[in-house]
Amino acid sequence: MAELQLNQTRNLPRRRFDAVIVGAGGSGMRCSLQLAEAGMNVAVLSKVFPTRSHTVAAQGGIGASLGNMSEDNWYWHMFDTIKGSDYLGDQDAIEFMCREAPKVVYELEHFGMPFDRNPDGTIYQRPFGGHTANLGEKPVQRACAAADRTGHALLHTLYQRNVRARTQFFVEWMALDIIRDSEGACVGVVALEMESGEVMVLEAKATVFATGGAGRIWAASTNAFINTGDGMGMAARAGLPLEDMEFWQFHPTGVAGAGVLITEGVRGEGGILLNCNGERFMERYAPTLKDLAPRDFVSRSMDQEIKEGRGCGPNKDYVLLKLDHLGAEKILKKLPSIREIAIKFANVDPIKEPIPVVPTIHYQMGGIPTNIHGQVVAPKGGNPNAVVDGLYAIGECACVSVHGANRLGTNSLLDLVVFGRAAGNFIVEQNLQAASHRHLPENAADPSLERLAKLDASTQGEKVQDVANDIRNTMQNFCGVFRTSELLSEGVSKIDELAERANAIHIADKSKVFNTARVEALELANLVETARATIVSAEARKESRGAHAHRDFPDRDDAQWMRHSLWYSDNNRLDYKPVNLKPLTVETFQPKKRTF
Ligand code: FUM
Repeated sequence: MAELQLNQTRNLPRRRFDAVIVGAGGSGMRCSLQLAEAGMNVAVLSKVFPTRSHTVAAQGGIGASLGNMSEDNWYWHMFDTIKGSDYLGDQDAIEFMCREAPKVVYELEHFGMPFDRNPDGTIYQRPFGGHTANLGEKPVQRACAAADRTGHALLHTLYQRNVRARTQFFVEWMALDIIRDSEGACVGVVALEMESGEVMVLEAKATVFATGGAGRIWAASTNAFINTGDGMGMAARAGLPLEDMEFWQFHPTGVAGAGVLITEGVRGEGGILLNCNGERFMERYAPTLKDLAPRDFVSRSMDQEIKEGRGCGPNKDYVLLKLDHLGAEKILKKLPSIREIAIKFANVDPIKEPIPVVPTIHYQMGGIPTNIHGQVVAPKGGNPNAVVDGLYAIGECACVSVHGANRLGTNSLLDLVVFGRAAGNFIVEQNLQAASHRHLPENAADPSLERLAKLDASTQGEKVQDVANDIRNTMQNFCGVFRTSELLSEGVSKIDELAERANAIHIADKSKVFNTARVEALELANLVETARATIVSAEARKESRGAHAHRDFPDRDDAQWMRHSLWYSDNNRLDYKPVNLKPLTVETFQPKKRTF
């Protein structure tokens, strides 16, 4: 890597685009497709080859009320999503998403996405957690599936369409920081080519974050190693808030000891959870939906079984997911990857034996606040809905908020496609091709260059991975399925100490090719911001709601806490804003106690 000096922004190579999208997962590529097909000059940056983005790991399905298996409609989907969110989701955004769902799924079908088929040729749909007919009456089959590889099928379909539309991909590039002008508008990003170490300024009239989640702030995670919260880190450093970061979903079925995801689709196809007594314990916790209750319910029930001594194995620290009764034919046809994962990571063949599973961190419900057009919202001068001109966020890094305190399975892929498309449409409507680029500040890249220069100049300090691992273990131990005031406040202090330690790291192997050590160090800064946002917001919320289960405050407290958290990086500042309980066209779903 060339020696970096400060105040060198003006010497950096620059490229200009109508739009720059950071992240090539489902939301990024759905957005870029909309823009490229409208004739815009679009660049998509990705730390990995696009089809290796984490969307590829989504297994069970994409939610849409197609009604192919039995009667269904968007209103029931909306009800399930709001109830699933423990009433923290914004009802306007949820109505928008559920109404759009059938349209975006048929669009994917027409793009060539290889969904499984029913005998009559329609898209196959399976049951999933919290999906019901007639406002909670009975389970409904709403998850549109491509075997247990739905994300894989979706990502490849979108990549091929983007290649055809001439989207320009910057593969193995990492965005370091956003650039804001004197009015606060976003004018592009500073980015690093990972192989060469070259730093470049990418100017854009629209900059879209589609950077995915930060599941790698936990030690046990279903997330890819690339999920280090880069979008959240960049937003926090730019002075923008992060919303509802205390709400993280534990997926009930991660392979014990390995963390790899076993899709909820297994239970959708008839798999059941058993404790050490062979009891189907979910019948006690959720008499109607049983194993297909929403994830926060199932994860807490599993944790409870394990804590009360009914876990399995020599240490009684997992439960069993039994699916052998489905038969080899169904497993091989509908769940082929699950069988492969179970054999490789749990050393069991699920055709014959159950899979050991534990709740494992999977998804962040919070993120960068946005409206339904994907515009980033940051309160300013008394306006709670002020937008940051030129900056958009979509997908898991964004909080629109359709998932509230707990997301329903299959609404993640849906969120990516609905809001990726909506942001794309909104940007196209701005007619940006006719506009000129905003002025690039003289020192636009200096903060990024300073960070790089400091890393390169380091001659002593801790190893990046030692600090990163301590963050992960701290989050695991102090911010888990069940939280307490004592654990959370100790966790806040520990994460603050780790943030200090992250400022004094040392890259020992600077000469290595591909700059992997530098990239890991840059990712660490993003892990730190996301972990701080999470644990500080969690410590402050004195209630239990959705995935935030607080032993000292076991009830939901709508009077005090029916509000979204906004965390700012400066001094861990917290602010709050109201939940939007007003849908677009229908009556409000009033908060009720959740039973399943
Ligand atoms: O269980 C799963 O297949 C995961 C789906 C999701 O997170 O939506």
